[in-house]
Amino acid sequence: MTPGSGASGEGATLDNLLVEERAFAPTEEFAAQANATAALYAEAAADREAFWAKQAERLHWETRWSQVLDWTKAPFARWFVDGRLNVAYNCVDRHVESGHGDQVAIHWEGEPGDTRTITYADLKREVSKAANALAALGLRAGDRVAIYMPMVPEAIVSMLACARLGLTHSVVFGGFSSEALRSRIEDAAARLVITTDGQYRRGKAVALKTAVDEAVRHTPSIEHVLVVRRTGTDVDWSDGRDLWWHDLVDEQSEEHTPEAFDSEHPLFILYTSGTTGKPKGILHTSGGYLTQAAYTHYNVFDLKPDSDVYWCTADIGWVTGHSYIVYGPLANRATQVVYEGTPNTPHEGRHWEIVQKYKVSIYYTAPTLIRTFMKWGTDIPAKYDLSSLRVLGSVGEPINPEAWMWYREHIGANQCPIVDTWWQTETGAIMISPLPGVTATKPGSAMAPLPGIGAKVVDDSGADVGKGGGGYLVLDQPWPSMLRGIWGDEQRYRDTYWSRFGEQGYYFAGDGAKYDADGAIWLLGRVDDVMNVSGHRISTTEVESALVSHPSVAEAAVVGASDPTTGQGIVAFVILRGDAGGGDSVAKDLRDHVAREIGPIAKPRQIMVVPELPKTRSGKIMRRLLRDVAENRSLGDVTTLQDSSVMELISSGLQKGT
Ligand code: WTA
Repeated sequence: MTPGSGASGEGATLDNLLVEERAFAPTEEFAAQANATAALYAEAAADREAFWAKQAERLHWETRWSQVLDWTKAPFARWFVDGRLNVAYNCVDRHVESGHGDQVAIHWEGEPGDTRTITYADLKREVSKAANALAALGLRAGDRVAIYMPMVPEAIVSMLACARLGLTHSVVFGGFSSEALRSRIEDAAARLVITTDGQYRRGKAVALKTAVDEAVRHTPSIEHVLVVRRTGTDVDWSDGRDLWWHDLVDEQSEEHTPEAFDSEHPLFILYTSGTTGKPKGILHTSGGYLTQAAYTHYNVFDLKPDSDVYWCTADIGWVTGHSYIVYGPLANRATQVVYEGTPNTPHEGRHWEIVQKYKVSIYYTAPTLIRTFMKWGTDIPAKYDLSSLRVLGSVGEPINPEAWMWYREHIGANQCPIVDTWWQTETGAIMISPLPGVTATKPGSAMAPLPGIGAKVVDDSGADVGKGGGGYLVLDQPWPSMLRGIWGDEQRYRDTYWSRFGEQGYYFAGDGAKYDADGAIWLLGRVDDVMNVSGHRISTTEVESALVSHPSVAEAAVVGASDPTTGQGIVAFVILRGDAGGGDSVAKDLRDHVAREIGPIAKPRQIMVVPELPKTRSGKIMRRLLRDVAENRSLGDVTTLQDSSVMELISSGLQKGT
């Protein structure tokens, strides 16, 4: 379903239903000390390329660029043309050289409670040794390396060692199957895979290398498997092919001289699922990517390298882990927490215990986790001292206003600015977000494009919808950390992102969005999550937000199910809060509540109370499966679910008549 086409007639746009009146201006105190000021917007507007050149100066360039942007071969951009730099040198060595070798780079917290403290000097030694090891295996600039690891320090060291040598890494999330790993190794023709013997998941050690063994049986490009010992799990061993990290890396020299690479040298490939078909290998390069990762991390999170303790809860298997655990924070000399495990191991206060222990001041997480915390109850964070927090971030999906308010109140003590950051694997870094200390935020809105970024909401014909209108989100200017293509598939790159508004030359993000009356941007989910009920375009996100604003509801997922009279009917799957009474009246209450919050048009046809929702491993709700349930179809592919038993739980619960 797309806004502006089909049953509702020509030129229709997304109906703008949910109205949010709350706004939170920055405190004077925060504004006075903030890295970002309103002047950034003016500066970027006056001369965009000069603005980005200035941002690139945060980095150390071995050779300065001759041109900021070459867009003559659009949609293939070249940023900081002819510039040369080493990404790992920028993230590690230069901080040691500037006298910060003793500063903690990583406070690492293992799931079982073991810890490691890694300074920038330690990191330089570890990355140098790993780089020497990879070079000793015969790997050369341009080769691809797959990294299939849990959140152990060696995963970050491996990424940086690749960057140091100009190897292109492809990190594959450690929760993915061996088949997912196989197809990614094959697509990129990787020569090496780095893994661990096992990983901790919810308190248990589970095997990981076995999945690699299975995958590489079918991938002749792999010459070696480099294995970090993490859990002590037994492993099968293939002599000659398999190498222990502690044998190969530990014996290497701690000295390694980084070489500078072209600004457009491929830094990494990261696979992201398309709506159908095989995953897309999103390609990112060096100079522009690192510039925007560092610029956004500094301004959006207001990072103060000498005093902040930053924590991004993502996994390095996702782009958020690449840009906001590895490259952005390390380029900015952050001190950060890296946590290996799940948020409820061994108890539901684990995150808050970590915040208290390390005095975390900047915390960046996803709405799905915030809603989970809401479900677990406010008494849990209330037990910990969270007073060190000063900035809170959100990423990954639209954040419902109620979850935003809960985050603000129960985690941020009504003091911390919240930055709702919109971006994608493809954009490489944050694109739309408030700037703390500058922007008055509205709960649920990502507000405005960052200085230097161009974004618009347009209708079917590519025309700006203007204040109060809804439609498609597009990016109308190239940006430094933009993807440089899909690995090995130029045509798919053009088709997926650049053909929808080819005439205007806009990048099509695939998200629905609207402007409110003040021109703030509200993301409304993927365009295929837009429902059409009796000709009204209704966003699943808005109905979900209305449901979550009811005191009984912890989490909600809404789908449009085909309906003979209305085109689509709204079907809502809800998880009730622990203390909410169930019963027959709940469905009626919720339907009435949505009607009150949004309007009768958005009243769900059906409410299904469920114990869990099906989510991908990156925490996105798989609406496709819920649509199957809502339309009484047999279930489609469930292999990318985080927990495949969830669908059985949902179906059996429904048969029992809940
Ligand atoms: C969604 C994650 C609303 C959006 C960095 C986008 C968001 C997709 C937000 C990219 C946000 C991400 N508000 N929606 N703040 N952040 N999204 O590639 O649909 O895993 O297109 O990158 O997530 O997901 P990806």
